[in-house]
Amino acid sequence: MDSQPVMTADLDLYGVLERLAPLASAYLEIGTKDGASLRTVLTANPDLSRVVCCDTWQRRTRTGKPATHAHIEALLAEMGWTGDREYLDGRSTELVPHLTETFDLILIDGGHSFETARDDLEHCFALATRFMVVDDIHLRPPVWAAVRDFCVTKGSALSSTMLVTFSRNGQAILERRR
Ligand SMILES: C[S@@+](CC[C@H](N)C(=O)[O-])C[C@H]1O[C@@H](n2cnc3c(N)ncnc32)[C@H](O)[C@@H]1O
Repeated sequence: MDSQPVMTADLDLYGVLERLAPLASAYLEIGTKDGASLRTVLTANPDLSRVVCCDTWQRRTRTGKPATHAHIEALLAEMGWTGDREYLDGRSTELVPHLTETFDLILIDGGHSFETARDDLEHCFALATRFMVVDDIHLRPPVWAAVRDFCVTKGSALSSTMLVTFSRNGQAILERRR
């Protein structure tokens, strides 16, 4: 950590994603909700080869069953995006460890407890080839604590372009050393 410069920029999550998406080919998103971040990424880079979205969706259908990603499919259809996509409907800490592919852009914007953020960071790091973005590091102190611990233990595997922004929510951008 000590030799890594920290840069700051006045961006929000969408500004961060807009800038990183053109550098990516495969995108993993933990926490998709209504698709605002996904829309940002795909608008900035419609040529992404693959998108994987993980969310508990946290809403129930009218029959009381867990909600699924149907509204995201509708969004992608509206955008005219026909690329390869996969949905992980459920908790990231249980589902992401089953992935075996790699991603050059990962957004962690799901559960906000320390344990969930810590586990998401670990699991995503195993799949990351370049950027991991963590949202809400200011808004949610447990998320910041998990990011801070992660940077202390994994700092030598991060490149010198680690960058933290100071919007209301706050994002950490971790670039894996290549
Ligand atoms: C802040 S919202 C995501 C917003 C989205 N990234 C955007 O900017 O448009 C957080 C989402 O994470 C989901 N979520 C919460 N805990 C989760 C978990 N443990 N695993 C997967 N998704 C989770 C919630 O259902 C919610 O949709």
